[in-house]
Amino acid sequence: MELSTLKYKFYNIYKEDLSQSKTQVAVKTYFSPGRVNLIGEHIDYNGGMVLPCAINLGTYAVVSRRQDSSVKVMSMNFEEMGILSFELDQIENEPAMDWANYPMGIFNEFIKRGHAIENGFNILFYGDLPNGAGLSSSASIEVLTATLINDYLSFGLTKTEIALLCQKSENEFNGVNCGIMDQFSIAQGAKDHAVFLNCDTLTYELVPAALKDYCLMIINTNKKRGLVDSEYNTRRKECEIAFKLIQKGFHKRPIKYLCDLTPIEFLEVAELLSDDAVYKRAYHSVVENFRTHESKKALSSGNLIEFGEWMYSSHESLKNYFQVSCKELDIIVDLSRNIRGVLGARMTGAGFGGCAIALVEKDKCDYYIEKVGRSYNDKTGLKADFYIAEISDGTGAIHESF
Ligand code: GLA
Repeated sequence: MELSTLKYKFYNIYKEDLSQSKTQVAVKTYFSPGRVNLIGEHIDYNGGMVLPCAINLGTYAVVSRRQDSSVKVMSMNFEEMGILSFELDQIENEPAMDWANYPMGIFNEFIKRGHAIENGFNILFYGDLPNGAGLSSSASIEVLTATLINDYLSFGLTKTEIALLCQKSENEFNGVNCGIMDQFSIAQGAKDHAVFLNCDTLTYELVPAALKDYCLMIINTNKKRGLVDSEYNTRRKECEIAFKLIQKGFHKRPIKYLCDLTPIEFLEVAELLSDDAVYKRAYHSVVENFRTHESKKALSSGNLIEFGEWMYSSHESLKNYFQVSCKELDIIVDLSRNIRGVLGARMTGAGFGGCAIALVEKDKCDYYIEKVGRSYNDKTGLKADFYIAEISDGTGAIHESF
């Protein structure tokens, strides 16, 4: 949907409120990206290094303040649900509020921290991210809501503070035990750069993602991500168990997270982990962290062939050790391996369905889409969607005249 169409709809939907206002109402527009993680999967909650980037698919919002203390939100993606509203002094997670529980949680978190929000907002959202496909549509809307509140009310939060506020809201208000990677990369993303983030200290480096003759292809398996929340929590618990056992038996230095260990140090203490699942989760975490360091070096030095190899090995580890892949994602990666001009492919995000990414030679993109699309459909009966992603800036106001 064009931005001008979205604005037109905004004026139509909220016309009564806008016409009642005695003063000129400031209407602003914002964009918040989704993200793909290039490498460093399931280690943000283990103090690891991750390498995500913000993408040009995401969520748009048209916004104005209200005279009263109501917040009235609507999404063009769920138009049939109409306007959903809540009062700033009565915020509670309610199933009937459906998707609006995400923006609502953000208002709640600002208020809980003592930021006074007296007047409410009208917000019209529209997203071109496929929902529930692992490209972080929820973090996109969270960071969008926090950014617009921070901007309208001049609260002065930094992007890192916004990311942390959003993560807290998702953990506590929405009950999803996510790490910091999604909100951080969406808030701090930069055009044509990946975010090399230390999830323990939150220090980061923007790494130029010079993909040269290659493009970043996103492949949505359209396999619904069943079980993702419960399996995600199980993986987190298994990692905690592994960490506690290792922490007790590792005497070289104090460690805070699984990812503080090098792969060799891990092998020295691996026998402490007698449970097979716990061992496998920890092994993946430590080696994935190493892979992320090496991949970052490869990307910085323009060695895309090596980078692609790391992508494949990350996928293998997520499949065999962390066990968060699924048949559909594996098929996409296997098909990719057999196409000339593809340097690497892997699942991205939490897994159990959703999206894979691949580095595909620009000239071969059409061929890739045709070939992978057809074979995938033959093997699964599902139709995959393909997007050629651009790496974009993080969340912010859109500056243009209307
Ligand atoms: C989800 C979570 C992130 C991260 C990834 C896996 O996207 O929200 O915090 O744990 O899964 O890397």
